Amino acid sequence: MSRLKDEMVSYITKDEIAEMVAQLASEIEKDYAGQELVLIGVLKGSFLFISDLSRQISLPQQIDFVQMSSFSHESNEAAIKIVKDIGVSIGGKHVLIIEEIIDEGKTLNFLRNRLLASAPASLKIVTLLDKPARRVINIKPDYTGRTIEDRFVVGYGMDDGEIGRNYPDIYYLRH
Ligand code: IMP
Ligand code: MG
Repeated sequence: MSRLKDEMVSYITKDEIAEMVAQLASEIEKDYAGQELVLIGVLKGSFLFISDLSRQISLPQQIDFVQMSSFSHESNEAAIKIVKDIGVSIGGKHVLIIEEIIDEGKTLNFLRNRLLASAPASLKIVTLLDKPARRVINIKPDYTGRTIEDRFVVGYGMDDGEIGRNYPDIYYLRH
């Protein structure tokens, strides 16, 4: 934590995160009662969120991961690539994409279109945090833990130059 200490402002505590996760899990459990799910975590940022969320959803579920990369920050769709694809088949299944934060929405939109091509029975998006002010593509999550202002955040899976993913709380960076 030392490298970033002076720039980090406490934003969402681990207790608040736990409440958000519990709330999301209970909504999902209610909406999908009696059904089987496929949770797809978007690496790397969602690794803690999906591990906490999945353990609180008492429904049969498969878990898989995708990893995407974009070559530049002005990333158009052509620049987005799947680095690691899912291994489970999702045709006819109830699929939930698990994201820790939605920003511009480009990577998520690309992923959603890819997954829809496999004809899931349903496909919804779960995000812990949403930054709608930054959106450049019209994509809305179906389940949101909290809507936040346009701030760059680290912790609970989210990084700044690969630092900070392991922090139990979420901070924003004072730039
Ligand atoms: P976008 O929605 O295509 O712009 O990309 C969203 C991805 O960028 C998220 O899933 C995160 O991995 C990363 N990201 C967006 N905003 C932040 C942030 O504030 N902190 C850390 N990572 C972020
Ligand atoms: Mg992500």
